[in-house]
Amino acid sequence: MDNQKVPKFTRRNVISSTAAVTIGAVIPNLWVLRGNASSEMEVILHAASAQRKLDPSFSQPATLWNFNGAVPGPEIRVRQGARLRVTVNNGLAEDTTVHWHGVRTSNAMDGVPYVTQKPISPGNQFVYDFNAIDAGTYWYHPHQRSFEQVGRGLYGPLIIEEANPIRVDRDVTWMLDDWRLEQSGEIEGDFGNSHDMSHSGRIGNTVTINGKKMEMFSVGKGERIRLRLINAANARIFGLDFQGHEPVIIALDGQPVTPHRPNNNLVILGPAMRVDLVLDMVGNSDDINDVVDRFYEGLAYRLTSIKYSDKVVRNSPPNWSVQLPKNPLKEPDFPNAQHHEVLFSGGMMGNMVMREMGINTTTSNSMMGMMYSKNIWFINGVAAEGHIMDPMLNLDLNRSYVISMTNASAWYHPIHLHGHSFRVVSRGGKMTKYQEWQDTVLMAPRETVEIAFVADNPGDWMFHCHILEHQASGMMGVIRVA
Ligand code: C2O
Ligand code: CU
Repeated sequence: MDNQKVPKFTRRNVISSTAAVTIGAVIPNLWVLRGNASSEMEVILHAASAQRKLDPSFSQPATLWNFNGAVPGPEIRVRQGARLRVTVNNGLAEDTTVHWHGVRTSNAMDGVPYVTQKPISPGNQFVYDFNAIDAGTYWYHPHQRSFEQVGRGLYGPLIIEEANPIRVDRDVTWMLDDWRLEQSGEIEGDFGNSHDMSHSGRIGNTVTINGKKMEMFSVGKGERIRLRLINAANARIFGLDFQGHEPVIIALDGQPVTPHRPNNNLVILGPAMRVDLVLDMVGNSDDINDVVDRFYEGLAYRLTSIKYSDKVVRNSPPNWSVQLPKNPLKEPDFPNAQHHEVLFSGGMMGNMVMREMGINTTTSNSMMGMMYSKNIWFINGVAAEGHIMDPMLNLDLNRSYVISMTNASAWYHPIHLHGHSFRVVSRGGKMTKYQEWQDTVLMAPRETVEIAFVADNPGDWMFHCHILEHQASGMMGVIRVA
């Protein structure tokens, strides 16, 4: 990280409640706020607007909204089992909240305006207080007008460390974002326009790693890196090709997975998704290898390059284990699970796809209706208007569920459930190889995906597409666990 652009975290703005807490001072990187083993950690996040150039070559600064003056906001690092208390001060000119994406908090700490809390109005604060029960890579972001608040940079990583982490030489976080900038470098102000809403969402023209363009990522020969990727973009899906390297996926959405190489050596991250990789630096001193994002056909670009210094860490990759310890997730009871079906529809060309799939379109939208209202996307025929609504599913506490989700639209949707992680059990009727635990699952157009989980966390939980323009134009529902 470039420390000149982040605030210094001092005792004054990070108040420790117990003597056991230490802060960023123990490590040179001031971007990181670190708590001690099995301690409590107290953090203050201040949301405010700030002007900063996203790249020195731009003529104008961008009007960012951020936490503690930085994009991303501070990386909060706690040990699994720690209690985290975060005071969020709202220095914005509008209401906000903070949601702890992927963290299994109690419902009252989930940061959903009007559903789990009153939004934090300008000048006010809210204290989030929860235990870090699962180790892994998570992130935080507002849940109020997310398409603009997250889109202007209000987000940060939350890393929950295993008591016994796997051995690596370096643990690195790359928070990816995609900005739509004017020529000058200022952010285009067209948030929430109906074209973005009805198509693929707000895809930008400038991709950053940890808030800036990263020309080179410097490594040493033989080095082993744990790379935590977080997709904070409103809408862009990444498909990363680490040329010359063979990344091994060890966790998805924070949850450990059987270590495996990605299909076609391409690491896919839909919005809000996280992937933890083990990357062995198998090249030689002075090598330069590109990291290319090739998710969208014909639109490949170089994200950054891996540049080998003349430092030799070791001559061949280490044989240390890459298997992460399990998190305390309850296994779904498949024989006794109750099944539900969920249909996602709407968007441009939606009716055509529905007809092709042989699905009745009477509950769907008309083109005219779509152009003149914000009801563009539907879950089981209903378009959400804001967060308050009747539950689309009522689940019994501690019962197992299999939910079969069908994407009857022409677009990708990363579907996120709050308060739980679920196993992705099948795609297109075929069992998935790793039965991976996720909290956000990317569905391709026309795809059916089955997820399974134990409804063990009581409350009203949002269930929505994490393309933030789709979420804002209907693709959201509430699942009640009681
Ligand atoms: Cu990452 Cu409902 O949110
Ligand atoms: Cu979507």
